[in-house]
Amino acid sequence: MTTDNHSTLFSPLTIASPDGTGLTLRNRTILSPMCQYAVDQQDGVATDWHLQHYGAMAAGGFGMLTVESTGVCPVGRISPRDLGMYTDEQTASHRHLVSFIHAQGAAAAIQLNHAGGRGSGRPWLPGLHTGSASKEDGGWHTVGMTSESVMEGYEPTMALDNAGIKQIVASFAQAAQRADAAGYDAVQIHAAHGYLLHESLSPLVNTRTDEYGGSTENRSRFICEVVDAVRAVWPDSKPLGIRISATDWVEDGLNIATTSSLMRNLVDNHGVTWVDVSSGGLANTPLQPSGPGFHAILGAQMKEALAGNNATVSVVGGVSSPEQAETMLRTHQVDAVSIGRAAMRNPHWPAMAAGKLGVAKENIPAAPQYWRAQW
Ligand SMILES: Cc1cc2nc3c(=O)[nH]c(=O)nc-3n(C[C@H](O)[C@H](O)[C@H](O)COP(=O)(O)O)c2cc1C
Repeated sequence: MTTDNHSTLFSPLTIASPDGTGLTLRNRTILSPMCQYAVDQQDGVATDWHLQHYGAMAAGGFGMLTVESTGVCPVGRISPRDLGMYTDEQTASHRHLVSFIHAQGAAAAIQLNHAGGRGSGRPWLPGLHTGSASKEDGGWHTVGMTSESVMEGYEPTMALDNAGIKQIVASFAQAAQRADAAGYDAVQIHAAHGYLLHESLSPLVNTRTDEYGGSTENRSRFICEVVDAVRAVWPDSKPLGIRISATDWVEDGLNIATTSSLMRNLVDNHGVTWVDVSSGGLANTPLQPSGPGFHAILGAQMKEALAGNNATVSVVGGVSSPEQAETMLRTHQVDAVSIGRAAMRNPHWPAMAAGKLGVAKENIPAAPQYWRAQW
């Protein structure tokens, strides 16, 4: 595909990797990870639903798809119906998915997660975003940094001891090895939205007094250990990313100054080359914004904090207008946009956006089967 000079959104993007090869995406649209709760047997294995869901997005022209939050161990899943990356059968099902995504010209990233105290959920029920799944529904007693409920509406957890934390670090590394075997091009570590790694970082909920609690350095330890363990087994030719809640939107919680300084450290010293900026997840607060491009300012602040190195910064949140996405990129607020709900409404969002932005017909990233759709 030739580069179309008229659109930055539809120009290629290379996400750096430690060995210098990098991963080049056909454009700067990234599918945001979105749990589908579509596993059949609570076995974490991808189903036909995942194939059609990600298949449509890949055929719709995304530069890269981030496959939804995938548990690094059974109690790391957000719900009993989530994908996992801890059995051979799961790995094989991901391989099938990745191969179809690649065949459509898109790159494939996977979001690896431990849901901590927000695990064992039942978010597939319309309107019910909190609360625990019953034992009959496959639920479990969750683990967390403390024994307190991580957020209103969630059950108290079992506090992880030091050995439990080390075990989870090892699970992330094993899941990354499986992700490599499945053919994924990039890993995104989930450190946002109130799940275990965000919980460990946030002073709002991490009240531990050992080396994983207290100072910012101590609260960053778990994330740094996970990043190091994954980077050690993840091929040098492949990018490692992280999704961060840049702020808790609560006084005394995380703020952009703390999170951008941690990201700078991860980029400078731990081999992270892609930072995906989101926010919130630990507190219900009216300060949490919404609306078009609602995280754009945080993305721009993160990019400024990471200036001078070659890390890719993407931002998620309310991006649905092609013109707005184009402006965010042209004004260098971010390097790429992550798109969630707009992609559920229209899996062919990139092809549609390319048409709207006047990209030359031959450069519109539509599947050949759909060329006559008049983008
Ligand atoms: C159905 C659904 C599932 C989601 N699952 C995940 C997930 O697995 N991991 C994650 O980091 N965010 C998840 N999110 C959040 C989205 O990735 C995204 O950050 C959020 O929807 C805001 O972006 P948007 O305005 O483009 O939708 C989910 C959102 C929705 C609507």
